[in-house]
Amino acid sequence: MDTNRLSKKMAAALNAQMTKEAEASQIYLSYASWASNQGYGGTANFLFRHAQEERNHMMKILEYILKRGAEVKVTAIAAPPPNPASMYNCFEKVFSHEVDNTTSVYSLVKLSLEEEDWATWNFMQWFVKEQVEEETLAMELLDKLKISGGEKAGHNELYSLDRDLENAPDSAKSAQDVTADKP
Ligand code: FEO
Repeated sequence: MDTNRLSKKMAAALNAQMTKEAEASQIYLSYASWASNQGYGGTANFLFRHAQEERNHMMKILEYILKRGAEVKVTAIAAPPPNPASMYNCFEKVFSHEVDNTTSVYSLVKLSLEEEDWATWNFMQWFVKEQVEEETLAMELLDKLKISGGEKAGHNELYSLDRDLENAPDSAKSAQDVTADKP
């Protein structure tokens, strides 16, 4: 008896997303190492923590595929893109990467809708919410850099941003959780 509850197409798409999350983890690892080499310890710490979050996303998908009785395919992953050219460029790259990941999450949601695979549709909603948080976080960091002068941000501004990032939360507050009392 076949106990696989995912279509072939859905299993392939979920495996591809799992690989994408693993690649994201490597991207954050490489940017974190770059930041550390530049002397931005706080930024490096933030990006290293985020690399771990991406690995957790990978595991979340891996476990879901197994839970639905389909096959997990662990494959080689692409090398991260070149190092950022500056702190501003680093967060531009982070933001573009997250937008790209959101596009990929949306196509999985679309496929689950087409297949009327409501279990996967429901599972993917966690990722939809997570992407809003991650894009917001990257946007907020880019905004901070913009008001500090963007590419022209001076040493003092970069120093305080780096210090802030040392203890920055790993995710932005979801819009759903915001109230007038707790903005
Ligand atoms: Fe796994 Fe940054 O999304």
